Amino acid sequence: MKICRTIADCRTTVASFRAAGETVGLVPTMGFLHEGHMSLVAAAKEAADRTVVTIFVNPTQFGEAADLDSYPRDEERDLAMLEAAGVDLVLIPPVQEVYPDGDETIVETTRMANMLHGLVRPGHFRGVTTVVARLFNFVQPDIACFGEKDYQQLQVIKRMTRDLAFPIDIRGVPTVREADGLAMSSRNVRLTAQDRQAALVLSQSLKAAEEAAAAGTTIEALREVIANTIHAEPRATLRGLDIVGAEDLSDLTGPLASPAAIMISVEFGGILLIDQRVVTP
Ligand code: PAF
Repeated sequence: MKICRTIADCRTTVASFRAAGETVGLVPTMGFLHEGHMSLVAAAKEAADRTVVTIFVNPTQFGEAADLDSYPRDEERDLAMLEAAGVDLVLIPPVQEVYPDGDETIVETTRMANMLHGLVRPGHFRGVTTVVARLFNFVQPDIACFGEKDYQQLQVIKRMTRDLAFPIDIRGVPTVREADGLAMSSRNVRLTAQDRQAALVLSQSLKAAEEAAAAGTTIEALREVIANTIHAEPRATLRGLDIVGAEDLSDLTGPLASPAAIMISVEFGGILLIDQRVVTP
């Protein structure tokens, strides 16, 4: 596994893959890898001949400097995991390499970045698209994999890729789940045993919504199904419930007539968990 810290070095290695007629899959990460990231790596390996992973804690997507400073890092462990997974190249650029002259040039999906999650984290998605556009340019992959769990991020990146005509196939990779349906998250281990059990209400509420959608329903009724399921669990506090157009994240009302993305965030004893599902009529 080749480890590169400069764009030039990365490009030389990717050029050698291309010269051999090989396709390239990219998995951008901020490191501190877990099973969710490794499922993206597995998807990239499946889809392309060579797999490139980037590890870069991107300062432009953090609102508070304190969040950036406290972001967990463990390069040695990350590299061991990637090596074991059979990754071909890891790019770990310093900030100076990604933003040599600051972030004068930004990339932003104007509407989609400033709604839903973007309202509580102003500038976050602008930072994401700015860094992902730069990473796309550094690596120039054929495909790139992102988790469906960060649903808004995935749609924002798909839209940016389309608008800027990057010749890259963006793959959304399904959320990895525990055997009982709870979406995997590094936060799960911080739940008490009772909250861990109660947290099943996230996937249960989404399943109930999926069933209602298949039987024919309205957006308003879907909201009610989800809210009622979550409110029935006394340990759960519903913090966010958005039902939007699956691709453009547009507002939806009335009868469910096209695929809709449901995004929920629920708090258990101070720990916020998220989950999502696309439902179809
Ligand atoms: O999802 C992430 O880890 C980050 O937002 C990404 C896509 C690597 C950009 O920094």
